[in-house]
Amino acid sequence: MQIHHDIAGLRAALAGGRTVALVPTMGNLHDGHLALVRQAREAVGPDGLVVASIFVNRLQFAPHEDFDRYPRTLARDAELLAGAGCDLVFAPDEAEMYPEPQGYKVHPPAELADILEGHFRPGFFIGVCTVVAKLFNIVQPDVAVFGKKDYQQLMVIRRMVAQMALPIRILAGETARSDAGLALSSRNGYLSAEQKEQALLLSRTLKTLIARWQAGERDTDRLEAEAMQTLRLAGWEPDYLTLRRQHDLGPARDGEPLVALAAAKLGATRLIDNIEA
Ligand code: PAJ
Repeated sequence: MQIHHDIAGLRAALAGGRTVALVPTMGNLHDGHLALVRQAREAVGPDGLVVASIFVNRLQFAPHEDFDRYPRTLARDAELLAGAGCDLVFAPDEAEMYPEPQGYKVHPPAELADILEGHFRPGFFIGVCTVVAKLFNIVQPDVAVFGKKDYQQLMVIRRMVAQMALPIRILAGETARSDAGLALSSRNGYLSAEQKEQALLLSRTLKTLIARWQAGERDTDRLEAEAMQTLRLAGWEPDYLTLRRQHDLGPARDGEPLVALAAAKLGATRLIDNIEA
């Protein structure tokens, strides 16, 4: 497996017309990321090239967020990626990705990007779309794999690719969880042992919300308020916990595939999760 820190070196290594799959990450990898790498390998076959990018993208962090303390673990990440069948790692530093202030940015539409995560993290999806578009231009992949763990992000990127007619097939990876149900996340490393136990309540509360809907309850405002209250009573500070339709994250409606999504703070750590109904 090769590791490239500069765009020119990576481009030279990719020349030759093989099918390319990209898995963009911010590093500090766990089994969820590695499953996406294996999915990328399946998609391009043994003759294709699997590229993983590792870049903690300052553009998608607000000043008060965890950009500075986000874990950077490149040596370990590289070992894990090699074991998962990755061919090339692209790990640029900031000067390589943003040699001058990134004045040209991709602004996703408000109806998709200013709700939920975008409401609580203004500008977040501008940062994500801008870096992902740039990574797509650098790597020029045929396929790119994103996790459903970041459900809204996956949707925003799918729409960007469609509207901009980018010749890239977007694949979705299922959310990898611990045996007890906690969605794997680099930010779980911020949690104490006790908080990791408490964190299980997030997916459980999402499941309960879906179960109540499936049992026939239709007052979504009440279902959501009670679910948020469950979290608050256990010491969480929820940003949102809501039932939406999968298609465009609009209001939940009967007869359409639904997804329950949540973001909440446990102590100083903000976790997100979602479960499809
Ligand atoms: P990061 O949080 O490192 O996640 C990289 C990819 O792994 C994303 O597609 C994310 O959805 C996926 N992922 C994370 N946890 C997962 C889990 N438990 N199961 C399955 N997939 C999981 O998302 C980002 O980085 C950034 O926003 C990025 C797209 C790289 C742009 O900077």
